[in-house]
Amino acid sequence: MRFWVPTGEVAAALDGLPGATVEVVAPDGTPLPGTAGEVEFYVPPFFPAQPAIAAMRQMPRLAVVQTLTAGINSLLPDIPPGVRLCNARGAHDASTAEWVVAAILAAIREFPLFAREQLAGRWSYQFTGCLAGQNVLIVGYGSIGAAVERRLAGFEVQVVRVARAARDGVAAVGELPGLLPAADVVVLLAPTTPETAGMVDAAFLARMKDGALLVNAARGSLVVTGALGAELEQGRLRAALDVTDPEPLPPGHPLWTLPGVFFTPHVAASTPVSAARALRLVRDQAERFSHGLPLLNVISGDY
Ligand SMILES: NC(=O)c1ccc[n+]([C@@H]2O[C@H](COP(=O)([O-])OP(=O)(O)OC[C@H]3O[C@@H](n4cnc5c(N)ncnc54)[C@H](OP(=O)(O)O)[C@@H]3O)[C@@H](O)[C@H]2O)c1
Repeated sequence: MRFWVPTGEVAAALDGLPGATVEVVAPDGTPLPGTAGEVEFYVPPFFPAQPAIAAMRQMPRLAVVQTLTAGINSLLPDIPPGVRLCNARGAHDASTAEWVVAAILAAIREFPLFAREQLAGRWSYQFTGCLAGQNVLIVGYGSIGAAVERRLAGFEVQVVRVARAARDGVAAVGELPGLLPAADVVVLLAPTTPETAGMVDAAFLARMKDGALLVNAARGSLVVTGALGAELEQGRLRAALDVTDPEPLPPGHPLWTLPGVFFTPHVAASTPVSAARALRLVRDQAERFSHGLPLLNVISGDY
């Protein structure tokens, strides 16, 4: 049973797996190793570029693609028929939820402003906002959304939950127009799908209250960047982003200098905790696969 994994760390996680031949291959556009035809279990690189995606077409025995990420939007359209795609749902909950809480607090307590003032050598005393008493709307109340709510439990906020379908305590996405005007903080944690791509457009943003904070820890493609830019330019909304569209943000892009926004370069899940949990998941999945047991996190059609 041949496994292709992107790094030595992932290979080490599979050490001693009975019957497994593990090869470190991160396809980069150069000719693939001759063993491509034997690969049954493929772990693409953390940020899969086009060659790593295209490589799947040269794996006729491929049975499982296990990502190191929770988001699988870049791979999904190219998964060959009959191949099971599994994501790393759960592995990044702690890191990503922690980023969300850090971003909310940093924005509301004006840390980016104070950091700039420190660099300029200015003691700039001023009042700031406060998270206590605010209404936090989580759009995409899944694994990470629930982890955000658990972490916000001590902050005296009201959490409102939205998912694709309504369930106990969770509103359906169709109710968003009525919920947005009450939210002080809107946190995006939905996956990229045809329904969510561009869902945060001018109309969505217009329903947000003056001074509200948009936090995007999901994917840049959920937000129409130009529409957000227009709101930031006017100083009506604020934003804290871990992901942007385009990504990486090219030099000279307006987001670099617009007021009321700070961003990090897609780092929310780039922590040792996430890495260790993703490796544990890959090991678990590889064991399940080699014993013919059901896999976890299998992505189904309506992801
Ligand atoms: N910034 C980073 O580094 C980073 C790290 C990890 C993950 N992420 C992103 O975070 C996303 C969420 O991860 P997760 O593990 O929490 O996923 P998850 O457990 O699958 O949860 C996703 C949630 O989004 C909801 N959803 C789907 N379509 C929606 C729509 N049109 N409107 C509103 N909600 C919708 C789903 O609703 P239902 O429950 O009704 O299906 C589900 O509750 C990933 O897809 C990934 O893109 C980013």
